[in-house]
Amino acid sequence: MTDKSPSAFDALHPHAERLRHSPIPDLIAIDAGRPQDFAVRAGPLYASFARQHYDRAALDALFDIAETADLASALRRLFDGDIVNVTEGRAALHTALRSDLSGAAHVREATAQARAARARMATMIEELDASGVTDVVSVGIGGSDLGPRLVADALRDAGGGRRPRVHFVSNVDGNAVRRTLSQLDPARTAAILISKTFGTQETLLNGTVVRDWLRNDARVYAVSANVQRAAAFGIDESRILPMWDWVGGRYSLWSAVGFPIALAIGMDGFERLLAGAADMDAHALATPLRDNVAVWHALTAIWNRNAMHAGSQAVLPYDERLRLLPNYLQQLVMESLGKSARLDGAVLTGHTVPVWWGGAGTDTQHSFFQALHQGTQIVPADFIGVIRADHAHAENHTALLANLLAQTEAFANGQPSDDPHRAYAGNRPSTLLLLDALTPESLGALIALYEHSVYLQSVLWGINAFDQFGVELGKQVASKLLPALQGDAEADDPVTRALLAEIIGRDRLMK
Ligand code: F6P
Repeated sequence: MTDKSPSAFDALHPHAERLRHSPIPDLIAIDAGRPQDFAVRAGPLYASFARQHYDRAALDALFDIAETADLASALRRLFDGDIVNVTEGRAALHTALRSDLSGAAHVREATAQARAARARMATMIEELDASGVTDVVSVGIGGSDLGPRLVADALRDAGGGRRPRVHFVSNVDGNAVRRTLSQLDPARTAAILISKTFGTQETLLNGTVVRDWLRNDARVYAVSANVQRAAAFGIDESRILPMWDWVGGRYSLWSAVGFPIALAIGMDGFERLLAGAADMDAHALATPLRDNVAVWHALTAIWNRNAMHAGSQAVLPYDERLRLLPNYLQQLVMESLGKSARLDGAVLTGHTVPVWWGGAGTDTQHSFFQALHQGTQIVPADFIGVIRADHAHAENHTALLANLLAQTEAFANGQPSDDPHRAYAGNRPSTLLLLDALTPESLGALIALYEHSVYLQSVLWGINAFDQFGVELGKQVASKLLPALQGDAEADDPVTRALLAEIIGRDRLMK
């Protein structure tokens, strides 16, 4: 079934066509109110969309689309625990882990379960703190790794050096676990195995290596929705924290999946992270569309993808502590929105998610910014800055902010030259997200903003943000190839057969 209906985004095309002849600096020059009017504040977060390549008329068309799609009701459905994950028949109640914004009985029950799990987690953290453990290895992958890894890294200074160090092992490559364990003392280390399914190959293999190295089962903890499987792995139920079907892996850092975060920054810090996300939840749910930062962010994504046809989106945090944000967002955004079937099964004719990628400034300026400034493809960017430095190197911070502002300006304005090699065309769109300071609250708000933007984009595209069938095929093929690599079977595919012969042959030669 192919979707042949007129696209909801058709109304954008005349605007895109019109604006082809009006680059961003011209739009700014003719509209004095734009810097203020194209900006939204939500608590500690200020978002400026003034350097996007749209004008008021194009925005009107975008907000009309938002009204027609009834984004306000879509958010209400999410918060009320409706079955928004239709292909798997599940709710997606990550908001219930941190907010209390629904009267629905099953949502209140979910919030109560999350609170009870946090209370158990707090007790485990007290036990670990009292045990003399200095290091904790967190084993998990995808949503059971990227969120905790990002937040623990971003906020680790908040622990003041008094918290255990948290290390993350995700990749099935044995070099990852070897490198991590080689710096640690098993007598002072604990482990947490995080897996919603407790069936993920990488986590089970790495978890086995870590458990065997530790030789102390009393210091192995788990977080899983499949308590039975975790228990069968040999972890005592008293050390298994729950997860639930109604939380998607990539939306789960607010649950006990955030155990490594709470270890790294303390339980108070973890609660503050949830409070910041809850404030963004309240903003997203209750703020009219025109003042709603999540709606602005989602509509901007739609504009850049479906009206301006950008195939790529950069995310550029100008704060070393947020260096893992692009990795985290790659899963959140691309696993959620990398779909080509609509909710009703019709195959989409337009485009959904572009490729998300990025890195932390100013390093990225010296690596890939050349292509962003002068390459043939326009890559919209989310720049993220933090106003308060939280370190004593004032000159560094001034230089960092100068670079951040300079890049957003140079992207948009460019600079003409008679020499084509030295000309900057400009007209590169960007959003600037500014946090007052990097705190648990502001980081919680920033992540929740992206979650809500992703959901709203999925509503506008008519796709399911909460399944990920696309990752299954590779896993199935890999499991079929295991016996072939061990020499116990033949691969079906002729190219794979030749590659296996090469690998096995060369491996023998090197022994
Ligand atoms: O990459 C696929 C995926 O299913 C992700 O959605 C998930 O976050 C990850 O694997 C890990 O899954 P689990 O938590 O079940 O180990």
